[in-house]
This record gives sequence, structure tokens and C-alpha cells, in this order.
Amino acid sequence: MACGATTHATAPALTAAPASVVAPPPAAAAKGVRTLSAESPGRILSVVVTTDSEGHPSYAVTRLGKPVIAPSKLGFLLTDAPAIDRDLLMADAGRRAVDETWEQPWGERRFVRNRFDELRVRFTEEWDAKRTIDVVFRIYDDGVGFRYEVPAQPGLETVRIAEERTEFVVAQPGTAWWNTAFEPNREEYLYERTPIEEIGVAQTPLTVRFEDGVHLSIHEAALVDYAGMNLVRVDRRRLRAALTPGTTAAKVVRATPFTTPWRTLEISDRAGGLYESNLILNLNEPNRLGDVSWFKPGKFVGIWWDLHLGNKTWHAGPKHGATTAEAMRYVDFAAKHRIGGVLVEGWNKGWDGNWMGHGEAFSFTEAYPDFDLQKVADYARSRGVRLVGHHETSADAAHYESQMEAGLSLYERLGVGVVKTGYVSEALGARVVGVDGQVHNAWHESQDMARHFVRVVEAAARHHIAIDTHEPIKDTGLRRTYPNWVTREGARGQEYNAWGHPGNPPEHETNLVFTRMLEGPMDFTPGIFGMKTRSPDGVPTTWAKQLALYVVLYSPVQMAADRIESYEANPRPFRFIEDVPTDWSETHVVNGEAGDYVTIVRKDRGSEDWYVGSITDENARSLSVALGFLDAGRVYRAEIYRDGAEADWKKNPTSIVIEAREVTAADVLPLHLAPGGGAAIRLTPAAGRVGR
Ligand code: NOJ
Ligand code: CA
Repeated sequence: MACGATTHATAPALTAAPASVVAPPPAAAAKGVRTLSAESPGRILSVVVTTDSEGHPSYAVTRLGKPVIAPSKLGFLLTDAPAIDRDLLMADAGRRAVDETWEQPWGERRFVRNRFDELRVRFTEEWDAKRTIDVVFRIYDDGVGFRYEVPAQPGLETVRIAEERTEFVVAQPGTAWWNTAFEPNREEYLYERTPIEEIGVAQTPLTVRFEDGVHLSIHEAALVDYAGMNLVRVDRRRLRAALTPGTTAAKVVRATPFTTPWRTLEISDRAGGLYESNLILNLNEPNRLGDVSWFKPGKFVGIWWDLHLGNKTWHAGPKHGATTAEAMRYVDFAAKHRIGGVLVEGWNKGWDGNWMGHGEAFSFTEAYPDFDLQKVADYARSRGVRLVGHHETSADAAHYESQMEAGLSLYERLGVGVVKTGYVSEALGARVVGVDGQVHNAWHESQDMARHFVRVVEAAARHHIAIDTHEPIKDTGLRRTYPNWVTREGARGQEYNAWGHPGNPPEHETNLVFTRMLEGPMDFTPGIFGMKTRSPDGVPTTWAKQLALYVVLYSPVQMAADRIESYEANPRPFRFIEDVPTDWSETHVVNGEAGDYVTIVRKDRGSEDWYVGSITDENARSLSVALGFLDAGRVYRAEIYRDGAEADWKKNPTSIVIEAREVTAADVLPLHLAPGGGAAIRLTPAAGRVGR
């Protein structure tokens, strides 16, 4: 004990405290308990909250009695007041059980069950200020969320958080998949796969597999008006929250009352269980926008891949990509091939010179002279196609906000339903108006930028526009509250395969499913058939894998990312891209291991069709899919897009077999995936009935 004045209220040692110490009032002492616990509805997970002899709070989590999180600290360090992390009396402040089902306007599944047991723990300081914080635990069968709730109270009007004390002591050895934090390229690094004991400073989600096959993902939900959480390994398997710095000494400044984001632990006995979990969405507030039927999930093509290949430029000049004629050519293609949207990048002024460092140069309303925005929008409308807007900001959020209303109004008037925003800049290169009203450099996941991103989706919603954020803040499930925040980037996407350095290795997408995709939808931009690029290895997948990515990497808006010439030259494999929907009523992970392979099946929200996507890393694999999810009485036509016998991401990426056969729910489909390969299957009800 540090100073002899910190004995816990219920500890027998209290009577031996120095005479100078004022004993707490008896009522508080009576409330002081040392252990509280609660279980998930199906008694799979349990949480134990304790205070030690110095009143330090901690929590621990077990799955079926086996430790997942060993006792881990809770609390706050403040910049202008003593930490709130010791001398705390603990009380059970209430419990409840919830079991409800809610409907998503769009998503991987239509209905989401929200079933948890909640425990609210109140911590009150024993001495002096008697500051109070609650920690609320929601315990699901497949995960735990907890957050701090700081009530309004005298002496704690404003809380300036230097750091959280929150820890995650991973209880068992295992393998971790993680992305390094605080590096210049933000979230765009390849995932590390190391023993837990070799984690450095990691972003979330961070995924762990124990030796017994139990998986754990640490992340957060409902990141609103707060700093993003990273994890720093302190020793062995002890990870501590490392909040993203803000624009003042404090990483977070909040007036009471306030709640922090939920700290989330998805826990499953298989990798696929992490992906199937609804924990993050369930911990977010319900839809705040009401009827959002103005947003339509769908696909788009665009003036885009040519830019990344260097064939065309965003900026003005002889190679300018966004010309009126080129955009109309893309509109024609989209109209002909049942693609609802056309993205045009580089139509607006500001791309000349070093645009990455000069967000202040962008105009969000003025077009280059060779691009007639009104004409293109009118033409698109006449052909039943909608433009997808683009707002690259180079992370100058302050400048963007000065024109955001004008830019969104213009797009709304032109019938644009989705705007892709961009925040290209190195870490700490964002520019944002801070609490002091001044413009500061900021991290993309700072509290000020968290506020900015929500301001954008709120403004866009007023214009009935959906947002697809590139170089975003991480996804913490806010699409439930703001269903117009439909997708984002937030990891290395396909574009890395275009540039003049090594692209994404074949295992990348199998890592994404069990890491980045646990956050939510990703605008990865699949569908490349032109495998030779500026990258030394080109696009390191087979064609069948490019198709499978439409099923595997969920996004309600999906790009057919290649140049339209590639599609015109390859109509047979392109057929899958034309057919595949982007909105689902059900999703199941059939098999999968992080970094190795995964097979996902999804049911179309708009028909009785099912789709299967299966991908592998650099290793060839034979997998199988039992079709028991199909309607038992029906015969289905399976349209199969699979790797050819000689297919190989390096030597023969375009080898594909496209074939059809009849199947029923009793069948098991074998899948033979080439190195870097995949399989994509459409299952559509056929005329016959089983047994006839
Ligand atoms: C990066 C985005 O990810 C990419 O899709 C876009 O083309 C460029 N920024 C330019 O905005
Ligand atoms: Ca692998």
C-alpha cells in the first residue's frame, strides 16, 4: 500500500488506518463489496469485477470457466486532477436482461438479435472528492462490451482524460493478428501475425487465437466524441489502452455526464464466430435518421483504376481522366450492364500539383473546363444511372467543412445518392477545428476528427446522401445509428495492387475477414481482370478470387473496380459481377482460419438466391460447402466460377472455369482453390422440386 491512507472500506485493516485518515461514512462502507459477477444469458461467458485492498478496480472474463481476460485494470488518468483508479468503493448499481430483435435497413443480415445480461458497477472514491464513475458490462454469449459512464457531479464538470487505465490481460498464450498503430500510413499496413507476447503498439480490432481454438477480438463500439483506442503491450500478454492524442494535452475532453465508447471483446470457439457476431452493432444506439429508404445498396463503376494505373490523371492536362465524354462512356456501360452508379474522380478543381498536401486547394463545386457536371448528371439520369460523388479532402477537414454544405447541396440537386470522401494524408496530417476554435494538425482517430466524421454523416443525411469514407476513422458500428454511413476503406484495398511497389500478398484478404472486416463494411474495390499493373506481382489473386471477394468482403456499395474495357473483353466472368447483389438477408461463415482461407454464404435480400464466396491465401486448398442452408424442397441451379486446373495467382491468374449444375440442400459442393485463388457461386432456385 502506497501511503497507508488507502485501505478499502470493507478491509479489516481499516481500523488500523492512521488517525489522520477520515473514515468513510458507514453507508458507503456497507456498499463496498470486493467482487461482483454476472453471466451471459446462455451461461457461456462470465465477468467478474473486483477491487483490491487499495481500491483499484479490475475485471476478468471467462468462457465456460476458462480464463479469456485475466484480471485487468479499469480507470482514468486525468491531466488536471488525480487519477480515478484507486480508493474506489464498489457497488452493484443494477442489473437487467434484454432480449430483442431489430431490423437493419440494409446489411449482412436483415434481423439482429440483441440478447445480453447487463451489470452496472458503481465506483465511488472513498476519500476527498468522492468522484463517481459507473462501468456498465453487457455480457452476450459471444462477447462482452463495457463502457465508462461518468455522471454529472460537483467538482467533475469537465473531465480531461490523459489516458485510460483500461487493460486487457490476455489470459492464455496464442497467436495474434494485428496492425501497427501510430505509423505514418495509418491503418494501411499488412497485418502482423505473431505470438501475443510480440505485439507492439496495435490498432484495433486485434484478433487472437488461443491454442484450444477459442478466438478473441478486441475492438470498440460507438466511437463518438472520443479518441480512438489503440493497444500497447506493457508486458507479457498485458495490453493497455492507448488513446489517440488530441489537440490539447488531454486526449479527450468531455463535459459530464458522458459515456465512453464500448470496449468490446468478441469471443468464439471458431474464427467464423467472430465475423458472425453482432456485438459491435448491438452496442450502438438505434437508427437516428428514421426512414433511410432513400439509400439504395448497389454497385458502381468509375473513372478510377486508370488513375491508379497512371494511364490517366486526376489533375488537368492531356491525360485528364474526368472528361465529359469519358464519364458518359462509363454511364453507357453502367446502363447496359445493370450497374447503378458511376464514380468520377478528379472532376473538381484542386488536383493540380501536390494535392496530398494541399487540401485547401480543393473546390467542392467547381469543375475543370473539360468536365460538364450538369450534362453528365442529366445524361446519367436519362439512362437510369446515378453519379457517385467524390470529395477528396486531403484530410483538411477544416477546409472541407467550409464548403461541405455547398458541395453536398450540389450533389443532392444532381441526384447523387452516395459520396465517396477521402482523407489522404500521413498520420497527424489531418487539419481540424479543435475545441478552442483554432485549426490544428490532428490524427485521423483523434477526438476532434471523430467529431468531424459524425458532422459529415449528419450533414449528408440532411441531403439524403450516403457516405463512403476513405482514409477513415475506424468503423465502430455507427452505421446502426447513422445508416447513411454505409462503408469505408480503413485497410489496404485493391489500389495497393496497382501501384509501383509490391501489392497485397495473397493472404491479405483472408486476414481482412478476421480483422478489419470485424469492424464493418469495407470499400475494398474488388473485380480486377487486368492482372498486369505497375506492381511487380500485378494483382496477386486469380480471377475466381476477384469474383469471390464480392461475397467475402461485404459492402452495401461495391465497386466493379476495373476499367470498363476489361469487362467488355471478358463478358463471361463479368456476368458474376453483374449478378451479385450487395444487400443480404442472411450471412454465415462456413469455414475459415485467419490468414489462411474463408468461405462465406449469403442470401440475397431481394430474391431467393444464395451466393457463396471462398478464398485462400498462397496455398491451394480443397474445401467443401454443405448446402444445408438451401430450402429443402427445392432444386437450385449452381453457377460456379472456379479456378481452372492450372490457375495460380502468379503464373496463371486468369484461368477460370465457369460451369452450371443442379444441386439441392442435400449436396456438398467441393471447392478446389488454386494458390491465391477462390470460388464464386450463385445458387438460384430452378423450376423442379426435389424428388420430382
Ligand atoms: C485514396 C482512395 O482510397 C482512392 O480510392 C482514391 O482514388 C484516392 N485516394 C484519391 O481520392
Ligand atoms: Ca496463410
